[in-house]
Amino acid sequence: MTRVFSGVKPTGHLTLGNYLGAVRRWADLDQRQSDALFCVVDLHALTVDHDPARVRRLTRQAATLLLAAGLDPELCTVFVQSHVDEHTRLSYVMECVANDGEMRRMIQYKEKAARERERGGSVRLSLLTYPVLMAADILAYGTDEVPVGDDQAQHVELARDLAVRFNQRYGHTFVVPRATRPGVAARVMNLQEPASKMGKSDDSGPGIVYLLDEPDAVRKKVMRAVTDSAADVVYDREERPGVANLLEILAACEGRDPEDLSGVYESYGALKKDTAEAVVELLRPLQERHKALCADPAYVEGVLRDGAEKARGMAKPMVDTVYRAIGLLPA
Ligand code: TYM
Repeated sequence: MTRVFSGVKPTGHLTLGNYLGAVRRWADLDQRQSDALFCVVDLHALTVDHDPARVRRLTRQAATLLLAAGLDPELCTVFVQSHVDEHTRLSYVMECVANDGEMRRMIQYKEKAARERERGGSVRLSLLTYPVLMAADILAYGTDEVPVGDDQAQHVELARDLAVRFNQRYGHTFVVPRATRPGVAARVMNLQEPASKMGKSDDSGPGIVYLLDEPDAVRKKVMRAVTDSAADVVYDREERPGVANLLEILAACEGRDPEDLSGVYESYGALKKDTAEAVVELLRPLQERHKALCADPAYVEGVLRDGAEKARGMAKPMVDTVYRAIGLLPA
């Protein structure tokens, strides 16, 4: 069985980018053939300025959405990161394997730290060490595959480097994980700023489709998507990023190829209309299940409680082994 681990951070409402790049693929995975864990990584939400009540609310909402998206708690493990102490236990040890230089080279750190400084804020130390915690999330479970969008590829690469380094120094302990990315929609772009990723923590609401947006809000956002002044529909991510983004979203919704789809459309209007309807239909069943699950919060809490217990049972022996291998005296 392939061990799969992935996570989502409760720093904002989940977006179409999260869904197409990651969450839908988690649900589509043959949950019988793989031994998968999916985690709401709440500790990662504390690396930037945060409101405690909002993090709590978004954590519950993200967990509910994962179940609404089709994760079956009978077949996979769904849990909240902070409920399993092994993540932070392992993270410290991995900080003793990582170097300051490689952490400062992380693209997301550089971008987020620069943004924070521009706002006149201070940069939390945890923002720098965040990818080590992410490596710990992955390595604690002997993970083979990490299904993520493009923006997390560098972090998974770091997890691989740290695993290899640890194994060389202290003896073979970790499985070396690999990232898996979707064929299309690995990087869904903001509809208003097609040069930027559609990110859940961004301020630009009109360019972001949230999973819980009402159908009319989705239609409005897609119909107003920024394209360009050319008239023909061509798939070119470099030169025509707005149109390419719409083609990728539509292709991902319909299981088709964006290049092939570009030949089908003669106007941006028709492309936008079909993309909007495809997204509305994609989100409809998820939104219905989300509504039903919200009516039964005790069920969701139970899933998370059981999930944390299962996850703890898997991670503890691994982290104990790591502690012994690196030279810590067993308790
Ligand atoms: P996060 O919460 O930013 O995103 C969750 C997942 O969604 C993908 N994603 C996208 N894919 C395509 N287009 C987009 N616009 C888009 N935006 C987000 C992300 O690539 C990700 O797969 N550091 C991680 C959370 C994390 C994690 C882990 C992931 C913590 N520990 C261990 C995997 C394994 C993050 O911030 O994801």
